[in-house]
Amino acid sequence: MTATQDWLEYAAKDFEVARPPQWRKIARPEQLAPDGIWLTWAYVAGRGAGKTRSAAEWVHEKAMLNPGVRIALVGRTPADVRDVMIEGESGIIAIAHGDAPNYQSTKRRLTWPNGSTAHTYSAEVPSQLRGPQHHFAWCDEPAAWTDAPKGDALDTAWNNLVLGLRLGQSPQCVFTTTPKPNALIRTILGRRSTVVTRGSTYDNLGNLAPSFREEVLATYEGTRIGRQELLGELLDDVEGALWTIGLLDEDRVTAPPDMRRIVVAIDPSGGSGPNNDEQGIIVAGLGIDGALYVLADRSCSLSPHGWASRAVGAYREFNADRIIAEKNYGGDMVESTIRQVDTNVPVKVITASRGKVQRAEPVAALYEQHRVHHVGAMPKLEDQMTTWTPQDGTSPDRLDALVWAVTELTDNFQAQAWIEYMRRHAEAQQVTPVEPQEQTEPAVEDPATVQQRARDAAFRAARR
Ligand SMILES: Nc1ncnc2c1ncn2[C@@H]1O[C@H](COP(=O)(O)OP(=O)(O)OP(=O)(O)O)[C@@H](O)[C@H]1O
Ligand SMILES: [Mg+2]
Repeated sequence: MTATQDWLEYAAKDFEVARPPQWRKIARPEQLAPDGIWLTWAYVAGRGAGKTRSAAEWVHEKAMLNPGVRIALVGRTPADVRDVMIEGESGIIAIAHGDAPNYQSTKRRLTWPNGSTAHTYSAEVPSQLRGPQHHFAWCDEPAAWTDAPKGDALDTAWNNLVLGLRLGQSPQCVFTTTPKPNALIRTILGRRSTVVTRGSTYDNLGNLAPSFREEVLATYEGTRIGRQELLGELLDDVEGALWTIGLLDEDRVTAPPDMRRIVVAIDPSGGSGPNNDEQGIIVAGLGIDGALYVLADRSCSLSPHGWASRAVGAYREFNADRIIAEKNYGGDMVESTIRQVDTNVPVKVITASRGKVQRAEPVAALYEQHRVHHVGAMPKLEDQMTTWTPQDGTSPDRLDALVWAVTELTDNFQAQAWIEYMRRHAEAQQVTPVEPQEQTEPAVEDPATVQQRARDAAFRAARR
């Protein structure tokens, strides 16, 4: 044995003796790697439960105790790996203190003094993981990886990672995530070689920054989706529901593009009072990219003056074009109530000519075509969307308001998509486009051909 090897073994033993009291003293049992033989340890828990910290500690311990090992760090995006897993508050550098590895971001590599290394990978680029071999791996928030709906199919980030996890006697991977009902999570949790520990946001409340704690609890407490986001439960899709959480998650965005039109839709069916429903108030827009964006859920349970003020407030805040409301439930009353708050707001009162199911199904179809995006999370609305089935009879107010908003925005959708298509086409040809008149139907050609082209253009625009 060389002097260097001697020293490294001594250092590892020293770490083993010195380190455990630090983390092991404060870690909760579910935050420590289980005993026994396993390939994957999945720590499945709510937001802020301490997932990242647990895995960062595990990675650091593996690196320190096994000189020269090679570790893979895989996050949703390059920024997630860098800002959360490596340099984040609970990341490797913060928890390693005096033993922190050297981080060379340009080489996507961390190097410990004992020669252990960790290499960073983005799940957005699965090919990065095709080839490299590792002793250990950490996957943070794999439920949110782009290719998670594909499960462990060939050439996904997960599949490539596992194929390269083949160095040493017992390669292992830690998997830290808030669950989502997608194929990857179901596959991993269903494997015999996976051990699972579970935790909730509430377990770690005392260690969370007050702002995070308040925001996450205010958003999710009391909702079905909160069982996933706070308690870390894997929710089953509701049979017959027109939407699934997976579908909503897939197209969710953090910020919308510029909007061409914005509407505030109200379903005030319940009126006020403790035994009545809430009033659905949804803000949605048509983006310049041709896709639809659900911008906010401002539903409430207030007096007529209260909900009208809220709707007018949303109209002003989002600089909307108009407020729309259904006539069937006292249309005149809705309009006059809004007018009492602001006489100048444009209000469009609509009459339902079709039943709720007939109105909701085309909206659900637009979601399936990935043309509708939610901006951020709207758990109460999304609970209604993912649990309501056409057999339920009446539909909940938030969902009704959403359906009105999307239907209103799609009224001129095809003509606008066609105009957009022609504009892009002209730009591509580098000719000056003739400025089309907003919302006019193309005059010539067979209408079926034009509609098909508009549908294709809208679909392409929405996918871009
Ligand atoms: N057992 C513990 N004792 C003390 N502090 C802890 C413990 N577990 C986690 N923490 C701290 O709690 C905070 C949140 O932890 P962490 O970032 O790991 O949560 P997370 O589950 O990854 O959150 P997110 O869902 O936002 O990704 C961090 O400051 C972390 O250091
Ligand atoms: Mg985390």
